[in-house]
Amino acid sequence: MDVKSIAVIGGGTMGSGIALTAATHGFDTTLIDISEEQLQRASGYHAKQLARSVEKGRMSQEDADAATSRLSYAASMTDASGSDWAVEAVTENPETKKAIFKEMCEAFGETVVLATNTSSISISDLASAVPEAADRVIGMHFFNPVPVMKLVEVIKGRETSEETTRRTMELARAMGKTPVPANDSAGFVSNRVLMPMINEAFFAWQDGVAEAEDVDEIMKLGCAFPMGPLRLADYIGLDVCRDIMMVMYEGLGDEKYLPCPRLVELVEAGHLGDKSGRGVYDHKA
Ligand code: 3HC
Repeated sequence: MDVKSIAVIGGGTMGSGIALTAATHGFDTTLIDISEEQLQRASGYHAKQLARSVEKGRMSQEDADAATSRLSYAASMTDASGSDWAVEAVTENPETKKAIFKEMCEAFGETVVLATNTSSISISDLASAVPEAADRVIGMHFFNPVPVMKLVEVIKGRETSEETTRRTMELARAMGKTPVPANDSAGFVSNRVLMPMINEAFFAWQDGVAEAEDVDEIMKLGCAFPMGPLRLADYIGLDVCRDIMMVMYEGLGDEKYLPCPRLVELVEAGHLGDKSGRGVYDHKA
């Protein structure tokens, strides 16, 4: 593996999980975010998870210390411009991501792969922001919680080179993940299948088929899901779910992907799930 160092752009849930996974798999990792508060939260999460891994006997104290020493935090991409790989995990908004791609293209070297952790936006569309580097743009879709979930969905855009794809599969394996390819279609495979199920759970709840807890209990006990679909929606973020559904509705042109009114209502009320303390469920207690 020729990659030794990784820059992760965006210090939210996904970015901090990707950074932790990279560092525990031996990569010098820089987590970049313009928000100092976000970086502090990420560093607290890293310390807590590493301590827990030691406590649980999954990792030696020495390995945890080595992972900590491989992690650094920066406010700007230029502070990590020598990195061998870049992956962005900023807000799921095409314009924000395109602006970040332009910055990545300027900040990192000419052979550095520019990966995106987008959950639904077209890779070719994002690559159009950096035509000179479009062969190095690829989707690396991780799952939350990143240190636990085994999958990386790997998505090639129109211009992505075979070499970029091969190296991405190799890097995902070196990070302890199983890469699985999917084509560049809104929502890819994971969210195209998951989001309609989550949406249908909202409809079932809205239509009074069952209480939220019972919708979840039925799917947990009857279909062996670790979390019911409504609990999972809170965990993912109700705003994120709505945005992904809208990307699929617009990208695939089918009204079946439109978010359920009850989901939209909760988002508009600011009840976004775990991160805001309230969503389908109350998480404050
Ligand atoms: N970071 C690191 N490790 C974590 C973690 C986190 N944020 N959350 C949980 N874990 C670890 C814990 O350390 C624990 O291991 P340990 O007990 O040995 O220390 C282990 O995972 C199990 O955690 P818990 O005992 O706290 O709780 P659960 O057994 O209920 O598991 C869960 C929690 C792993 C989140 C499980 O409920 C689960 O798998 N849920 C479904 C998650 C899922 O479907 N994710 C995909 C979402 S879709 C997505 O991300 C794509 C996007 O595009 C929308």
